[in-house]
Amino acid sequence: MDTEYIKSQLVPHPDFPKKGIVFLDMFPLLRNPVAFETLITNFVHHLTAVTIAKSPNRKIDVVVGLDARGFLFGPIIALRLGAAFVPVRKQGKLPGKCHSASYEKEYGVDSFEMQADAIEPGQSVVVVDDLIATGGSAKAAGELVAKSGGKILEYLFIIELTFLKAAEKLDAPLYSIVQVD
Ligand code: ADE
Repeated sequence: MDTEYIKSQLVPHPDFPKKGIVFLDMFPLLRNPVAFETLITNFVHHLTAVTIAKSPNRKIDVVVGLDARGFLFGPIIALRLGAAFVPVRKQGKLPGKCHSASYEKEYGVDSFEMQADAIEPGQSVVVVDDLIATGGSAKAAGELVAKSGGKILEYLFIIELTFLKAAEKLDAPLYSIVQVD
């Protein structure tokens, strides 16, 4: 299965960045072009199936990628779908009028921003990132899309830490290729 192949490329690093955390490194997946292609194809096939099932006459308009690892594969998915790519960045990085939304991190609060004119009202949007843990950053990204009037079709991740139950926080379905419990 392609999911098993993708999973086999993720390298666990126990006690990184601190004791007790098993960090799953996704960069080896990008080093291997066959695995990278398999990853992109998995996302694109999934999104094509979802679009056909939900509204066959409608396409995905925008792929939103989260700072920073969502920038590595979000634009490739967008190109394959014929969609726009829009970045959500950490506060203070984007010029022009921006929407902002804050979220809780392990220590303290952080803010995400998205350019206010990047998504048009009514556009169909998917949000992508490499990993979903508590879901705080994905939820903040969802708020930014909502502020622009975009409609989120789905949130997509390579890895989901299922024991943190992020899906319960989100306003649209969550798709992940590899689940860690
Ligand atoms: N971000 C949060 N938890 C992580 C983990 N276990 N591996 C990789 N990135 C992470």
